[in-house]
Amino acid sequence: MDLSTNIANFSFKNPLMNASGALCTSYDELNALLGGSNSSLVTKSATPLYREGNPMPRYAETPLGTINSMGLANQGFDFYLNFIENNYHQKPLFLSIAGLCLEDNLAMAKKAHESKAEFLLELNLSCPNIMGKPQTGYDFQRTREVLEQVFEIYTDKPLGVKLPPYFDMVHFEQMAEILKQFPLSFVTCINSIGNGLYIDAQTESVVIKPKDGFGGLGGEYVKPTALANVRKFYELLPKSIKIIGCGGILSGKDVFEHLLCGASMVQVGSQLMKEKNQIFSRLEKELEEIMYKKNYSKIEDFKGNLKSL
Ligand code: SIN
Repeated sequence: MDLSTNIANFSFKNPLMNASGALCTSYDELNALLGGSNSSLVTKSATPLYREGNPMPRYAETPLGTINSMGLANQGFDFYLNFIENNYHQKPLFLSIAGLCLEDNLAMAKKAHESKAEFLLELNLSCPNIMGKPQTGYDFQRTREVLEQVFEIYTDKPLGVKLPPYFDMVHFEQMAEILKQFPLSFVTCINSIGNGLYIDAQTESVVIKPKDGFGGLGGEYVKPTALANVRKFYELLPKSIKIIGCGGILSGKDVFEHLLCGASMVQVGSQLMKEKNQIFSRLEKELEEIMYKKNYSKIEDFKGNLKSL
């Protein structure tokens, strides 16, 4: 069975990787992802300097997924670039950045551009957990400005954006019109569904501390929204912009569904947190079993071929 896939000039032996934020913040976590059966990894979204993040508890597991408000807790950009520079020969890697302002993104993009390492850059426009800072991906004009300025600096290596979920057909179209105007290599759909509220009826309390319990939802809750975003952007964007599906992947069937909607790769977040790195070999096996039963020998046999009624 051939599970290989491509984004820009990078080849991946299977479509499986982590979602930024899931077990990719510390050196040990990144090193474990480097050794796993996932074909790639993405680092925790970086800011220029180390960030403590939001007060704890800021992550909780729920029966149908997770809720988090980490607040971009990370080791700082140089730490992640250094990890990539030391390890990019082992696997194709993604570096994620999430500046709190345009200047931060430009400064990090410049350093990434100047690096001799080969990697893909994921520009996170969709962190819902920074108090007082709306998600850039929900401000279309601002998204255009950010991309215009980043692409003035970042000219050689593949660049993609991580988007928030959209819920309206007009918003899909407006965002796609903007994205089409740039030489993007990929878009990642979706980040968590922002500002959900999970509560515990027993204790009559919220379960995370920041923002009085409001946080980004991942896991089973979000799969239909993730699939809708993957599908719409697959339909609206030129085929040179690959889609990375993210949201609600618990099984090989979920991977298959993302690929069927048009994803070229998938990122696993909540279920990776719950099940740890061994999830990748299970997902790989389950995907292969589905493909075998359906007589598919490679991803291109069914990628994007979702039928309408
Ligand atoms: C966080 O660090 O709060 C999550 C990052 C994200 O959702 O992009």
